[in-house]
Amino acid sequence: MARWEIELLGRYFKAEARALIIAHGWAVAGLAGKVSARLALPESERSFIEQASLLHDIGVCRVHAPEIGAVGEHDYIMHGVLGREILEMEGFPLHALVCERHTGVGLTVEDIVSQGLPLPHRDMTPQSLPEQIICFADLFYSKKAGRIAVQKSPVNVRQKLERFGADKLQIFDIWLERFGPI
Ligand SMILES: [Fe+2]
Repeated sequence: MARWEIELLGRYFKAEARALIIAHGWAVAGLAGKVSARLALPESERSFIEQASLLHDIGVCRVHAPEIGAVGEHDYIMHGVLGREILEMEGFPLHALVCERHTGVGLTVEDIVSQGLPLPHRDMTPQSLPEQIICFADLFYSKKAGRIAVQKSPVNVRQKLERFGADKLQIFDIWLERFGPI
């Protein structure tokens, strides 16, 4: 029997995008699972982390990203908020927060305002340990076809985060220290 998370994703994605989002979800779940094991988290938390890793990008179904088969109308930056809406509607409010809080190392109200992002003005930084672990693990994986299973190096992740400011790099470095070595 298929897992309920995969069935749920199957209701929102078709064809190419479905395969990519599921494969990406498993890649993130794999690394998040390694971190959870290293931190000796309780089984209930590990299970939540696996579920939410699989579902964290469900909002991609409503954005415009033809390169990954997403044919929605919204900007890609909105996929976290849209994912939150979907999972709240489906009755998973805690998984929903993982969606909203996984962009980069998290978006502050100041980020949203100063960059003029089309997002509600609320704090979107990961708060709970599961939220932080999934956000961290997601940084190491791309959704581009052919790159899905390739884990980036920490140096590579830092290079990508650099342009968003020293404060973002600092959050990553703290996570790397706490959740690594990768
Ligand atoms: Fe992701």
